[in-house]
Amino acid sequence: MKCNRLVDVGRRQFLRGGLVATAGAAAATVVGTGQAQAQTALALVDYPANRLANIADLAVNEPMDIGYPDADSPGILIKLGQAVEGGVGPDGDIVAYSVLCPHKGWLLSYNAGDKTLNCPGHHSRFDCESGGQQIWGHATQNLPQFKLRVEDNGDIYADGVDELIFGRLSNVL
Ligand code: FES
Repeated sequence: MKCNRLVDVGRRQFLRGGLVATAGAAAATVVGTGQAQAQTALALVDYPANRLANIADLAVNEPMDIGYPDADSPGILIKLGQAVEGGVGPDGDIVAYSVLCPHKGWLLSYNAGDKTLNCPGHHSRFDCESGGQQIWGHATQNLPQFKLRVEDNGDIYADGVDELIFGRLSNVL
């Protein structure tokens, strides 16, 4: 008897949910394309342009700790010594990555021997010479790479991120 009542309550809630969904769909149809485009625009992220360092501050294969787009998002800036994907500067070899593992957010450490970032949590590995591509492990996305720009005086700026930083619904909170 009690069980039947619960089934009945569940059925009513299901039907109510269906009505709400139908009403929502009808409203979306009436609203039309203009508003749909406006809602898409709201999802765009405005990244800050942050100065990270100057080219003169970097030594080959020695990562510098940085934070981008804010101090709660640790990363590294590194001059790899040979031109790579997404690399900037006169040698096309300067890149920057988030060091929060995309799997569960452990802090990655740099291995200068093979120029990878490695996770102590569950051992995912990411290639700094290939745009942060995952080469092994549990993570299901490549490492977020920071988009860099170099000014005439050698100042290096970060202007954006190409993947979602771990733990965020949006890269800029
Ligand atoms: Fe890095 Fe799991 S947290 S592999």
